[in-house]
Amino acid sequence: MNEDLWLFGYGSIMWKTGFSFDEARLGFIRGRARRFWQGSTDHRGTESAPGRVVTLIDAPGEICWGVAYRIPVGVVAPTIEALDYREKGGYTREDITIEFKTGGTTTGVTYHANTANPNFLGQAPIEHIARQIACSHGPSGSNKEYILQLHHTLKQHEIVDEHVRELADLVDCFSNRLEREE
Ligand code: SIN
Repeated sequence: MNEDLWLFGYGSIMWKTGFSFDEARLGFIRGRARRFWQGSTDHRGTESAPGRVVTLIDAPGEICWGVAYRIPVGVVAPTIEALDYREKGGYTREDITIEFKTGGTTTGVTYHANTANPNFLGQAPIEHIARQIACSHGPSGSNKEYILQLHHTLKQHEIVDEHVRELADLVDCFSNRLEREE
C-alpha cells in the first residue's frame, strides 16, 4: 500500500477507533442500509449465545451514513492488520465509494459481513432482535452498550437511522424490565 487509505465506519468503528488517522469526515455509501443482522460470538456475545451487531445490507435507493477516516500511508498496513483481526467474526474488507457530507467522493474500504458468513443471522422480528441484544454479553462488553453507543454517536453526528433508534428504545425497555425481574 503506497497511499493514504480511507476507511468507512458505520458501527463500532464510528466511536471506538483504536487506530491513528489524519482526518475524520462524515460521509455515506449508496445502496446500503445498516442492520443488526450480524451475529457476534467474539465481541458482544459468545459461541453459545451470540449477540447482534451491525452489518450492511443491499438497499437500492437508500444510503448509509458513517464516519470516513483517512489513515496515513505509514500506518495503513498495521492498521489493516489490527482491524482484520478485530473484525474477524465474519467481516471482510470491501472496496467502496464514499461520498462526503461536504461534497466530493473518494474510494475506500469498509468492513462488511455478508450473508454467507457463518455468523450471519439475518432478519428477525424487531422485538426478537431487541431481546437478544438486551440479554447478550461478550469479551468486549454488553451488547446493550454497543447499541447505546451507536445510537449516541449517530445522534451526535445528527444521523437519523430509524432501525437503530427503534431498537435502542426497545433494548432500553427490555433491559429495564429484566433488571426489575432480578
Ligand atoms: C464498522 O464499525 O464499520 C463495522 C462493524 C462493527 O465493527 O461494529
